[in-house]
Amino acid sequence: MPIFSRSRFAAALQDFVGKRRMEAGLYHEIAEQIQLPETGRILDVGTGTGWQLEVIHQMRPTLELYGLDLSQHSIRSAERNLKELNVDLRVGSIEKTSYDDETFDIVTCASSMSYWENLIACFNEIHRILKRGGVAILFEPQKGIDIDQAVETIRANMADASKLRQFMAVHLNKFGLRSGNALGLNLYSREEIEDIINRSQFADRTSIETTTLQNLPIFMRIHLEKVE
Ligand SMILES: C[S@@+](CC[C@H](N)C(=O)[O-])C[C@H]1O[C@@H](n2cnc3c(N)ncnc32)[C@H](O)[C@@H]1O
Repeated sequence: MPIFSRSRFAAALQDFVGKRRMEAGLYHEIAEQIQLPETGRILDVGTGTGWQLEVIHQMRPTLELYGLDLSQHSIRSAERNLKELNVDLRVGSIEKTSYDDETFDIVTCASSMSYWENLIACFNEIHRILKRGGVAILFEPQKGIDIDQAVETIRANMADASKLRQFMAVHLNKFGLRSGNALGLNLYSREEIEDIINRSQFADRTSIETTTLQNLPIFMRIHLEKVE
């Protein structure tokens, strides 16, 4: 992943965007699409600001929370945002982690997979740290999306916000979607992801659906299951 993405500046930008997404209810929308167990351990990969874990905690206060992110600046920000909660936050890549085998009941991930370098190694690592019968759920934008249409939806979503916020949201998203590759973002089609997963230890235990978040029907929800 390019140095930019691990920088203090990227984390500050992520902090700003994360707060807006929290206010807009994105993390609730994601959590509602996940079948959360009543108890056990949950890991959020590429947790960034950590807001996803905060929302999951509101919905299932009995779950033990874990967050992982490649950027130490992001983990610092998650530590600040989640200081009231008991969360195990670690800096590191999902390609090779320090968790024991079969640690987690569920692994979640939103908008991070497109930055991973060796996807098969990452999926195999998720497989290793999941308990038998555990699941991983990933949400990612798909390749080939209509950027202009997506930006118009983002503008419409922000209709009630101040002009400054609208401007920031529209231009940050436009920049992110158009310059993604330069920032290390690799979007995949459903077929490409299916092919990669079929070469991992999750082969045959996968389902991928297109889903809508924040009125944008551009996401895939990837469901991976570790055999009992
Ligand atoms: C676009 S942000 C999404 C953050 C958060 N999931 C959210 O939805 O707000 C992507 C995050 O993935 C992290 N990341 C990228 N590659 C990673 C890897 N190999 N392992 C763990 N985290 C990674 C980045 O540092 C960044 O914080």
